[in-house]
Amino acid sequence: MRSLYQLAMLIGCGLLVMQSAHALPWDDLTAEQLDTTLQQKFTDGKYSPKGADSCLMCHKKNEKVMDLFKGTHGKVISEASPMAGLQCEACHGPQGNHNRGGKEPMIAFGKDSKLSAPAQNTVCQGCHNDPKQMAWHTSTHNLEEIACSDCHTIHTAKDPALDKLSVNNTCTSCHTQQKADMNKRSSHPMKWDQMTCIDCHSPHGSMSESALNKPTVNDTCYSCHAEKRGPFLWEHAPVTENCVSCHNPHGSVNDNMLESRAPQLCQQCHANDGHASRVVPEPGIDSFGGGKSCLNCHSKIHGSNHPAGSLLQR
Ligand code: HEC
Ligand code: HEC
Ligand code: HEC
Ligand code: HEC
Ligand code: HEC
Ligand code: HEC
Ligand code: HEC
Ligand code: HEC
Ligand code: HEC
Ligand code: HEC
Repeated sequence: MRSLYQLAMLIGCGLLVMQSAHALPWDDLTAEQLDTTLQQKFTDGKYSPKGADSCLMCHKKNEKVMDLFKGTHGKVISEASPMAGLQCEACHGPQGNHNRGGKEPMIAFGKDSKLSAPAQNTVCQGCHNDPKQMAWHTSTHNLEEIACSDCHTIHTAKDPALDKLSVNNTCTSCHTQQKADMNKRSSHPMKWDQMTCIDCHSPHGSMSESALNKPTVNDTCYSCHAEKRGPFLWEHAPVTENCVSCHNPHGSVNDNMLESRAPQLCQQCHANDGHASRVVPEPGIDSFGGGKSCLNCHSKIHGSNHPAGSLLQR
């Protein structure tokens, strides 16, 4: 049942000399030793002949444990299902002497696990190693040692990571800056879960910067804002280069998710050359005022198709 991938990983780790598991003073082991020891359990440990039944003898009062059977992994969907094979032990490792008082630890997942995230993930990857997961290895999440189970819940009817209405919560439990941004005055409709982080990002990583779904920032934006793609007769260089030079995709206190308001927004790149004095406004009207500032005149900020639109005014 354990895949070749996992075996290769185990050998690659450089194993400790075989020791009888229950004799180990588990609490005295370094994190690294514990990793190796628990992984060793997988290959050398004593699996229970009764599968889930032997575990449930002690664990069936825990409702969370029983919720396994409401979800995908608790059902026999195919030959590859845990329940079609080693059952609980497919993920938690062989029981060994754990049933003698629960002292010998099992492979455990989540924040309280004694096992490192990469070691926990090896268990999942033993079954989930199809090409869809390839980007994971070079992803920031993997390099930051995020565990599969930081996002996914196994003992549940509905994994919150797979639910459009809760995935934003899953992400923002760690990404507090984005949580703050998406609740600002101007933002993508994420606070109502009409849009989610994974509309733009691949949680398992991608070949693009910032794990975007599309090759570039602009391609990501064009997938919904096609009208901004152009080509325009008169382009505005920063627009074709990178939408986030002016917009914060997660949200902003400024209208239209702008990083800052005009004129400051524009003046980051267009030094204030005083061309205002060359512009002749109608008497009594402050053409730079009214909140729109530069946009009062340069309104086609994303590009213009007007023959006389070179200054993005029409
Ligand atoms: C004789 C009773 C008993 C049996 C049988 C048993 N356990 Fe446990 N298990 C315990 C006790 C006691 C604990 C520690 C207290 C707790 O966390 O609930 C525990 C804890 C765990 C934990 C949490 C471990 C951790 O380090 O946080 C997991 C996972 C677990 N058991 C899985 C299993 C699996 C899988 C099986 C079957 C292969 C099994 N148990 C069989 C008694 C048992
Ligand atoms: C013994 C094999 C096995 C192991 C180990 C395993 N899975 Fe699965 N998993 C499956 C099968 C089979 C399915 C259903 C078919 C599919 O989607 O590939 C599945 C489905 C899933 C799904 C989609 C669930 C859904 O409801 O559509 C997720 C997410 C997932 N697994 C995550 C994990 C994580 C995280 C781990 C490690 C904690 C893990 N799996 C360990 C076999 C396994
Ligand atoms: C940062 C959060 C996060 C992490 C970490 C994560 N996932 Fe996922 N995973 C998701 C989300 C969100 C989806 C739903 C993707 C979608 O609907 O496009 C998903 C979908 C899946 C699916 C079902 C759909 C598919 O792509 O096959 C499987 C299986 C899966 N993940 C396994 C894993 C495994 C294995 C790991 C660890 C190596 C892992 N995930 C790590 C968030 C995460
Ligand atoms: C597909 C992998 C997988 C299978 C199969 C599986 N578990 Fe788990 N188990 C996990 C993960 C991951 C967690 C962490 C919490 C979560 O994701 O639901 C966990 C958590 C636990 C815990 C700790 C619960 C707590 O209260 O914190 C126990 C105990 C446990 N599992 C026992 C079992 C038993 C008993 C079975 C078989 C009936 C089983 N598990 C089958 C992956 C698995
Ligand atoms: C357990 C914590 C945790 C969870 C949950 C989590 N992340 Fe992350 N994520 C991190 C850490 C740590 C980094 C690296 C530091 C940073 O950029 O903030 C990161 C980085 C990222 C990056 C930048 C990637 C890069 O290559 O620059 C993106 C995008 C991202 N996460 C999206 C998501 C999405 C989408 C979800 C939900 C599906 C999610 N994260 C859930 C911890 C988490
Ligand atoms: C509309 C598309 C979009 C959505 C939705 C989105 N992001 Fe992003 N995100 C981006 C882009 C584009 C970047 C790259 C920003 C850059 O290069 O400065 C980015 C960058 C990031 C980064 C890297 C750090 C940074 O700010 O540069 C993290 C972490 C991140 N996003 C997390 C999230 C989370 C969490 C969510 C959901 C709450 C989310 N994103 C929703 C487009 C999006
Ligand atoms: C998955 C689709 C989707 C993607 C991808 C997307 N957007 Fe949006 N965008 C929307 C929706 C939906 C709205 C809200 C429209 C409305 O409220 O009428 C919106 C609104 C906006 C607004 C106006 C906000 C306001 O306050 O009125 C800006 C600016 C914007 N998006 C910029 C971007 C940028 C920049 C990117 C790329 C990083 C991007 N969008 C990617 C769907 C998307
Ligand atoms: C030079 C700065 C700048 C860049 C770069 C930029 N925008 Fe904008 N964007 C603005 C300004 C300023 C507004 C507000 C326009 C107004 O008030 O009339 C705006 C408004 C928007 C709006 C909402 C109103 C509308 O016109 O639909 C969307 C959507 C939008 N931008 C998407 C994008 C996308 C997609 C990109 C990248 C292709 C991009 N922007 C690049 C400055 C910029
Ligand atoms: C990230 C830098 C950047 C920002 C921010 C920016 N621009 Fe530009 N803008 C440019 C570049 C580069 C050009 C092309 C200059 C050239 O071809 O000489 C340009 C061209 C223009 C032109 C056409 C005139 C010309 O010389 O071709 C106008 C008008 C203009 N920008 C107005 C604005 C306004 C108004 C804002 C604020 C809403 C703004 N820009 C924000 C970089 C920027
Ligand atoms: C009252 C209308 C008006 C307003 C407001 C305005 N402009 Fe202009 N802008 C013009 C006109 C007309 C020209 C062409 C004549 C000229 O070159 O003086 C121009 C030219 C430009 C050019 C082309 C290069 C140059 O300096 O000749 C840039 C860049 C530019 N404006 C940026 C801005 C920025 C940034 C703001 C806000 C701080 C702004 N404009 C506000 C009308 C305006």
